[in-house]
Amino acid sequence: MTDSWANFRAEVGADLHLDLAAARGGGTGAGLRTGLRDALREAARTGRLAPGTRLPSSRTLAADLGIARNTVADAYAELVAEGWLTARQGSGTRIAERATAPGRRPAPPQGPRRPAARPAARPVLSLFPGAPELSSFPRAEWLKAYRKALNAAPYEAFGYSDPRGRPELRTVLAEYLARARGVHADPERIVVRSGYVHALGFLAGALRRRAPATRAVAVESYGLSFHRDCFRAAGLRTPPLGLDELGSRTDELNGMGGVGAVLLTAAHQFPTGVVLHPERRAAAVDWARRTGALVLEDDYDGEFRYDRQPVGALQGLDPDRVVYLGTASKSLAPGLRMSWAVLPAELVDLLSPFDNTTSTLEQLALAEFIASGAYDRHVRAMRLRYRRRRDELVAALAERAPDVRVSGIAAGLHVILELPPGTEQSVIRAAHWQGLALEGLSAYRHPEAPGEGRDGLMVGYARPTDSAWAPTLEALLRSLP
Ligand SMILES: Cc1ncc(COP(=O)(O)O)c(C=O)c1O
Repeated sequence: MTDSWANFRAEVGADLHLDLAAARGGGTGAGLRTGLRDALREAARTGRLAPGTRLPSSRTLAADLGIARNTVADAYAELVAEGWLTARQGSGTRIAERATAPGRRPAPPQGPRRPAARPAARPVLSLFPGAPELSSFPRAEWLKAYRKALNAAPYEAFGYSDPRGRPELRTVLAEYLARARGVHADPERIVVRSGYVHALGFLAGALRRRAPATRAVAVESYGLSFHRDCFRAAGLRTPPLGLDELGSRTDELNGMGGVGAVLLTAAHQFPTGVVLHPERRAAAVDWARRTGALVLEDDYDGEFRYDRQPVGALQGLDPDRVVYLGTASKSLAPGLRMSWAVLPAELVDLLSPFDNTTSTLEQLALAEFIASGAYDRHVRAMRLRYRRRRDELVAALAERAPDVRVSGIAAGLHVILELPPGTEQSVIRAAHWQGLALEGLSAYRHPEAPGEGRDGLMVGYARPTDSAWAPTLEALLRSLP
């Protein structure tokens, strides 16, 4: 899947994967240099990296790949000496004009409306939504927190843990969520899970078991199908709510039979980016109070709001009726598999004593990471970087594609580019020809959603590494009508 090799690090890996992987296996600086050099030479030779393409600086590429800067600089120098690259003061290191072997150049870019005559080359750039900028993971700070937490851990921390998670983490999360997201959080009601989907799995089972048993969970018209699948796997129906410019039509909940809960991305609807209107927020909580139902609030990217104060969590309105769900997947890294839920008391009692599958040591490290202030620092720094990228994206679109409307820009790690009806797939194909993997809005539409579907592109601008950002943006602009 393109999604798994989407940043520059993996972008090199996609084209140059084997050599670089083999070099890593060797482990030495010389092995890495050889692997990188061979991989880059092959990319230049086959035309995968077109003549004139500017390569990232040795410092940036080294940071993205997690290797020493000298290793990259040496590989570049060897390729300059061989004639595959050119290096000039002021214009950086580029693929040499005559580097491509005759007959191996990729097909020229296709216009957005022209269908691909043969399968497009496998994209090496990606704007798939769903991931933060992975090469910025704060390795040194995390290691420091991990070391400190490990040294301080009592011996019982190495045994089976409380299914809710370590008290150290639940305590700092309660403080953080109250301060940063307005969540009414008691550590006794916080449950740590291995990612949001793990939390949904528990909730789906708990909803069936609570009295009266839930038979259906209302969901948004647009969302991730595998999130809906968590409920369907537990035998629950997932009827969709309508969606307009004020967000999901929570007023429709009143007429829906058998619905015991509603799943909402209130602060930043995923994927359309609408912020749920205050009246719609109130309507959801009122409905839950009146009917004994629950609101499940997915606050997946609540920390990333750019132009105004973040919208506080819905959960603050009624902690007994709203389940708050947060994750480290956007703020830190999906690879941590760390999420948290703040539950009404009745659901805490439904937790199985054997469901303690989240690594205790990782939890202790995260607790230390948050308590030391490193988490806040990281989020603040990334917010600034993402905001800068978003501004660059919006400015470039205004200049080069003024007819394309951008929406959902106030928050999160992606925006939507609205497209004329019927053009979504042709733009995605055009992007493939530019070496760029993109997803359309239609992939997220609930199959039973009311009304007409919308054509649009999901632009996950946070995903590229710094070195891949400029070529990725350029490829996007060239793909648009
Ligand atoms: C809408 C939404 N909710 C939740 C999550 C978090 O999922 P997880 O914690 O399983 O990585 C994501 C991550 O991409 C998401 O897009």
